[in-house]
Amino acid sequence: MIKLVIFDLDGVIVSTDELHYQAWKRIAEQETIPFDRNINNRLRGVSRKESLEIILSYSPKQYTKNQKEVLMEQKNAYYVSSLKDLTSQDILPGVTEVLKELKQRKIKVSIASSSKNARLILKQIGLLDVFDSIVDGNMITHSKPHPEVFQQAAQALKVPCENALVVEDARSGIDGALKANMLAIGIGDAARYDKCHFKILALNELIPILEKISVKQCSRHSLKKGEL
Ligand code: BG6
Ligand code: MG
Repeated sequence: MIKLVIFDLDGVIVSTDELHYQAWKRIAEQETIPFDRNINNRLRGVSRKESLEIILSYSPKQYTKNQKEVLMEQKNAYYVSSLKDLTSQDILPGVTEVLKELKQRKIKVSIASSSKNARLILKQIGLLDVFDSIVDGNMITHSKPHPEVFQQAAQALKVPCENALVVEDARSGIDGALKANMLAIGIGDAARYDKCHFKILALNELIPILEKISVKQCSRHSLKKGEL
């Protein structure tokens, strides 16, 4: 039985994945490094530092630790400046309705994000007080695909991992959720990932999935991928 739904933030709750992309694109252009949306999909869910390493792997140049620090600071400055116009209008379709429905059903809701800016974003879009637990990039040692961020979100609420379900747009996030023994729902880029238990195009498909799971009394152990 599902007692907790854990949401990724960027690209699931709010369209900030696009702002990450635009900020990294500026960095890549400055450094004349090839960068496109396909490469950007590899950055989903991974930390700022690991994202930079992926981008720099497309450059023949060797960067010092100090140069990498400068690039990360620049990227974050571009990114944070683009967040200042963020409002509740940027909340993705279906999010508000799904959160309301989950509350009514007494299912807890959490955020598990690799971003150090997660709380700033939640505040800007007016959702900071909505979640029962929030785990962000400042609280974890390993970013996705490590399961730590999901495990922390569940532990904070004393919910066993097998009673939690994760919604992710990042393949790294799906991998992390599976390692944490949680059900994994892919949206956006992750909806093209074979490892998901379920794939959705929009968040409003989540409630029907939860209903099917509870009817079937499925647990991670009895549920086969793509069964529903
Ligand atoms: C994740 C994004 O949510 O946060 C990644 O999917 C990003 O693309 C990561 O690199 C870290 O974000 P921040 O805001 O700490 O640089
Ligand atoms: Mg994401």
